[in-house]
Amino acid sequence: MAKEEKKTMQPTTVKRMYKNRVDLPDDVKTKVCEVMNSKLASALDMHTQAKFAHWNVKGMNFYQLHLVFDATAKVIFKQIDPIAERITQLGGVANGTVRMSAANSKIPAYSVESISGPQHLVALADALGVYCKELRDASDKIDDLGDEPTADFFKQLVVEAEEELYFLESHLEAGDVQ
Ligand SMILES: [Fe+2]
Repeated sequence: MAKEEKKTMQPTTVKRMYKNRVDLPDDVKTKVCEVMNSKLASALDMHTQAKFAHWNVKGMNFYQLHLVFDATAKVIFKQIDPIAERITQLGGVANGTVRMSAANSKIPAYSVESISGPQHLVALADALGVYCKELRDASDKIDDLGDEPTADFFKQLVVEAEEELYFLESHLEAGDVQ
């Protein structure tokens, strides 16, 4: 097989599970790791989307938004390692390469045509809104599977991510009353 062909055929998800002493049934660990791996892919994607906004925003509010978008990127970046390591704590493989993230992320592609501050704010808030929903859904799903500590861990991630969403949305035009 040609080297190039072998590279493109690499799996985007490794489903191998290791045995350990964590007091959960094996099938629960497998399912919880599946949910977490999907969020790991989304977190890696979300981080680079925030960095894209940080690097590429233009206009009068450049510097302020440059900092705001970097703050968002930092919060998301801090979530990646604990998600990956919670997967390995339960016996799973953390599917966290950029290629795996690109294949498995549930975050829509960033609006790369964005130039101005408001355009990037909307683009990033849209993506972050989906990420926050993903984290909430993950927490609910993991709770239903019977792994309360991991569900609680995801709840904390929701609070952190939604705080960033609030920072972004607060810049957008006021008056969006329910
Ligand atoms: Fe920077």
